[in-house]
Amino acid sequence: TADTTHLSRAALHFLARKPALKDVATRLGPFRRLASRFIAGESMEEALDAVKALGAKGLMASFDHLNEAVQTPEETRAEVREYQRLLHRIDAVGVRANVSLKLTQCGLLFDEALALENARTVVAEAAARDSFVRIDMEDSSVTQVTLDIVRQLRAEFGEPHVGAVLQSALRRTEQDAEDLCAQRIRIRLCKGAYLEKPDVAFPDKRDVDASFIRSMRVLLDSGVYHGIATHDERMIEATLDHATRRGLPRGAFEFQMLYGIRRDLQERLVREGHPVRIYVPYGRHWYPYFMRRLAERPANLGFLLRNLVRG
Ligand code: FDA
Repeated sequence: TADTTHLSRAALHFLARKPALKDVATRLGPFRRLASRFIAGESMEEALDAVKALGAKGLMASFDHLNEAVQTPEETRAEVREYQRLLHRIDAVGVRANVSLKLTQCGLLFDEALALENARTVVAEAAARDSFVRIDMEDSSVTQVTLDIVRQLRAEFGEPHVGAVLQSALRRTEQDAEDLCAQRIRIRLCKGAYLEKPDVAFPDKRDVDASFIRSMRVLLDSGVYHGIATHDERMIEATLDHATRRGLPRGAFEFQMLYGIRRDLQERLVREGHPVRIYVPYGRHWYPYFMRRLAERPANLGFLLRNLVRG
């Protein structure tokens, strides 16, 4: 029922913030096995292999080095170096891929100026290689500052090199979509993976979906190249319908999905001639990302529990 779904989601989001559980969980076999469905590996080279395999199927990628809520300047600098090396490797290997970056990975939770500076260094590297950095969106406490930083970087580096993410769960998103489109900022539209309060977000999934469709239409009507990020076939149908009504050619926007989710749908859209990009997370700090994937779909939790009981 909707209530038990809400309860298990809340419980998973709660557990996601427990470091002790993280230490145990990341060592447990069943946990690691289920996680490996969603995470392309712990090293950059494993992730590159996964992206080559996707490329062979006609899928593009966006790499994400997993880490968030980073607490020290030194660790944020290590993240910047990782992304510089990643952009270099993408070029050297010649895969069709860009990168996704979180501002809390760059220090946003303790020093906004440092987060901007770190993100700027990564976007500069991407711009020099004619690549692109998607600034992921995190919980609603950082929405405004995240969009402010994307606007700043967009002004410095130009439309093709940096873009934002909007979450249809948030009440503000339709307006943000209008504003960012007016500034020709590329947007990834998704539903939103964080647990939010009803004053900022729609509690009812039907409202999240309706908001997705309204914002999707704003995006498609803007003439800017955006990403429609969902595995929901109803959202995808609505997008294709709107594109047809507007006479948009294939390639006017891209679909985006997460590594390991609905591979059948990913491949079907490619066969139908649509650009599809897969979000490919890798690295050692996979616990919070993995917990958000579990919270999205309580069935994943059942699978995990059955495996834990069996040992
Ligand atoms: P919905 O949750 O309604 O799921 C539709 C169907 O997809 C399900 O019925 C199921 O078949 C499948 N599915 C969805 N999630 C699954 C899971 N975890 N396991 C198995 N099957 C699943 N969020 C955010 O807050 N900030 C961000 O920056 C991003 N970035 C991002 C990039 C990309 C490329 C994608 C696809 C998604 C994100 N997200 C995100 C996550 C997003 O907000 C959302 O939580 C998930 O995409 C799930 O929502 P759906 O649109 O798939 O719909």
